[in-house]
Amino acid sequence: MRFRILGPLNVTGIDHSVSLGGINQRAALGYLLLHANNVVATSRLLQALWGEDPPPTARKILQNAISSLRRTLVDRESGDRSKLLVTHAPGYVLRADPATIDSCEFKELAWKGQAALTAGEWDEADCHLRKALALWKGPALADLVEDGYAWPELTALQNARFGVLENRMEAALAVGRHFEIIGELEAVVSTDPLRERLCRQLMLALYRSGRQADALSVYRRTRAALVERLGLDPGPELRRLERAILDHDPSLLPGDGAAVRLATPPAAVPETAGPDEDASRSAAPPEPQRSETARALRAAPPPPCGLEEYKRVTAVFVHVDTSGTSVPPEVLNRLLERAHSAVRERVRLYGGRTHERLGPVTLALFGIAQTQEDDALRAIRMAVEMAGYSDQGVRLRVAVAGGEALVLGAHEAAAGGEPVSVTGRFLETGLTLLFDTRPGVVRVCDDTREACAEHFDFVTADTAASGHDVTVSLRPQLASRTDLPFVQRNRELKQLEWWVEEVRRSRRPHLVTVLGVAGIGKSRLMHEFRRGITERAGVRCLIGCNRKLGLKEPYTALAGVVRAYAGITDDDSALQQDRKLDAAVTGLVGSGPISAQLADTLRSLVAPGRSTRHGLHRPESLKAVFAAWRRFVEELAAREPLVILLEDLNRVDDVLLKFIGDLTENVGSLPLLVVVTARPELVNRPSYWAGGQRNATTMSLEPLPLSGIDTLLRSLLGAAPGRCTAELRASLADRSGGNPLFAIEYANMMGCRTGGSTGAAPVSGVPAQNFEDRPMVPFLVHNIISARLDTLPQPEKSLLCEASLFGSPFYEKELAALSGRDPGEIQECLEFLERREFLRRSRLGPELGSVEYEFVHELVGKVAYSRLPHALRAEKHSRAAEWLAGQPNRPLTLLVHHCRQAVHHIRKAALPAEEISARVCGILIDAGQRAGQRDTTAAHYCYRTALEFCSPGDPQWHLLLRRRQQEAKSPA
Ligand SMILES: Nc1ncnc2c1ncn2[C@@H]1O[C@H](COP(=O)(O)OP(=O)(O)OP(=O)(O)O)[C@@H](O)[C@H]1O
Ligand SMILES: [Mg+2]
Repeated sequence: MRFRILGPLNVTGIDHSVSLGGINQRAALGYLLLHANNVVATSRLLQALWGEDPPPTARKILQNAISSLRRTLVDRESGDRSKLLVTHAPGYVLRADPATIDSCEFKELAWKGQAALTAGEWDEADCHLRKALALWKGPALADLVEDGYAWPELTALQNARFGVLENRMEAALAVGRHFEIIGELEAVVSTDPLRERLCRQLMLALYRSGRQADALSVYRRTRAALVERLGLDPGPELRRLERAILDHDPSLLPGDGAAVRLATPPAAVPETAGPDEDASRSAAPPEPQRSETARALRAAPPPPCGLEEYKRVTAVFVHVDTSGTSVPPEVLNRLLERAHSAVRERVRLYGGRTHERLGPVTLALFGIAQTQEDDALRAIRMAVEMAGYSDQGVRLRVAVAGGEALVLGAHEAAAGGEPVSVTGRFLETGLTLLFDTRPGVVRVCDDTREACAEHFDFVTADTAASGHDVTVSLRPQLASRTDLPFVQRNRELKQLEWWVEEVRRSRRPHLVTVLGVAGIGKSRLMHEFRRGITERAGVRCLIGCNRKLGLKEPYTALAGVVRAYAGITDDDSALQQDRKLDAAVTGLVGSGPISAQLADTLRSLVAPGRSTRHGLHRPESLKAVFAAWRRFVEELAAREPLVILLEDLNRVDDVLLKFIGDLTENVGSLPLLVVVTARPELVNRPSYWAGGQRNATTMSLEPLPLSGIDTLLRSLLGAAPGRCTAELRASLADRSGGNPLFAIEYANMMGCRTGGSTGAAPVSGVPAQNFEDRPMVPFLVHNIISARLDTLPQPEKSLLCEASLFGSPFYEKELAALSGRDPGEIQECLEFLERREFLRRSRLGPELGSVEYEFVHELVGKVAYSRLPHALRAEKHSRAAEWLAGQPNRPLTLLVHHCRQAVHHIRKAALPAEEISARVCGILIDAGQRAGQRDTTAAHYCYRTALEFCSPGDPQWHLLLRRRQQEAKSPA
């Protein structure tokens, strides 16, 4: 028998349609099908059929309807009547195979589609989602809806349908099929204009099809509908898309078209000055001689921020060396292709991007789209693996070089497209090293070696080009330094210990999420917590870590838990691993078919390469693996209280995230505590993280107080007498911003490291120096912050970079002047950045409605600033100066600072400096003239500074000299 509710209610047997009788019968069946295989209480059914006020005979009518249904729903196969519709206190249950109900089939396909979408398998996603949508033959239970039934379950089903449609459109957009979906999108959007995601997709599809005006008119129609029907404005994402379309933001383009379309310059958007700004301008003293340059500057749109940025990138050059083989060209061609595809596959697995291939050389880049703190480490690790490649005499020589690159189009790369260009001196270095090395050897540049000295062994190369050869691949673990005293986290430790007791007492599972930025001490806290548990009798604790410095394997945390229980180590052979796993599983569930099945499924986690049956990339297999893992955990927790620690959850995919988030809800009544650690990005993921669950708690790790950092530093610097001064410690503690990792890295950079239980060598052998002598940001710290910046959406990231021009503190209004964005949008972005802990409000500003912001830490501003190309900095600084010139209340020193920076950076960019110099001169002359009326010292200061940017040949030179002399003579 097959049940259809995605359309009019319809039941069919093997070869016939089942007649369902009157309205009560149909409604009862429809409602039971919505809850198939779940008991529906009679009271609920009565309410569903008759609402709050059922007739006195309702119960009787319902019983009759159920009896008639039982007669109708005869299971043809078995001939059994009672089998499908069963009485079960306190009501009824309709028992049917989910495969026979179209809504269940729909949910299954929707889940598969979502999983494939998350995995980036667009075609597979499209196939599942299409099938899911094809099951719909009209609104759910259309005939009952027509008769006035309006159950919330129907709305939920309808929403799920829209969700699937949106996902399908997402998949189509991702593969560049925007043309195809416009008609379908237009049809749904015209009947349901309030669904903002579909509107967004339609706007994007139209824009990508070259129909910008139509895309904007969809926005206007949606906005009008929202205002008219709900009294609401469009959400921030829709507003941002409109702005991006107006700006011709290149991030809107599909990946493959990026290079071509980027050449189109961004459209000039009329500058809209905020009302406050206009008011302050009119309040400024009237100035008859505003310079031409300044006027021209105001008329021009602000330059876009974020198309081009500086990033630390690591490049891996791979040369396929065929000199060791003498096969015919045809065979050689095959060998070459095989080698290149092996390289591409490794690059992908290690999270890099294959950028270019030129004959036998492939260039792979790490850190282009999304910077990660371990980019260089993954690059070397991959290089070491590739160096071992050998195929019928074909071998690889590999060189790794890293450094600062100017990247154009990183945002496109993040969206899956190609970066338009990557430029950096290190590319040249890499090529030189490549041809100086031998096949099978990895040659690394000085900078990369310095950055990774703790994790690999290097020997200085003895060939012509400089560089170092890697001799040892990655050390086993990048562990928290547990040799340092554990400071200031006793409260959090006590809370976790309390939860252990609580789950043990109540036998109810609980999930604790420990959130904190990189290096704040999540892993160290876990280490101490685990040590405490190990010392306590009767509680088992298993830990699983997600990828750290390694391959992109999303399920390593789950595997880690199984491995920890079974005692499997990396040194075990395949046979030993299998034996240990089998023994562990048999010990848990006894021997028999279930044990074999469980062990076999878990093997695909523990040894993903060896299991053929359960490929983790297939949604069905993944479901089986998750179910096996949950069973494993349930068996363990049934024996003794169990604590599972899962580290770095921000690194896992949405499918696993959902599974772990739901785990404690789905395991029944067991003494199980799941503690997960994650960076704050986790809460912004578009998935379902433990939100609103009763048995879930979140704990945020705040920066350590300065006294805690001081204790750490004392311990770190203790072995370097004479250098461990209170001033030095205070300076380091201040720079660390309460982050223990940053404090350790600063101390390392100073060369003060004492060595520890990890046995690592001093980071780079940097001689001890005064801190002021090396005011750089340590490599790892820079990369951690840079990686955090890359987790931001483009509009927020570019605004943060612009804010960094002002330093701390700054005002919204300043930013509005600099970026030319709408004040409302700026406010939204700033609030977002505050929530994501990049900025904080320092206080209310001097004017009504103005707010003063500061960077949560000086380092964030510093790294954000380092992303801006020099030419852009010059332009933005001159713009900031121009705006400040109209703000009589802001210090003159600030204006002068921006003028100087503008000229400094245009010179750094090696661009002609005349235009910017003339601009800032004009700004300073204007400011000097205004100040001269009331403050001659200030005027003198302006003219004197302007002279710095003028040469005797410039028309303004003599005027400036005269003015300077006049102001100097006038009484102050
Ligand atoms: N409370 C503390 N007392 C002493 N040392 C600490 C403390 N917290 C962290 N550390 C040290 O600081 C370094 C970074 O900490 P940890 O590895 O725990 O950071 P994390 O939050 O796990 O970062 P990530 O997000 O990168 O995993 C480690 O060497 C750790 O030992
Ligand atoms: Mg950690």
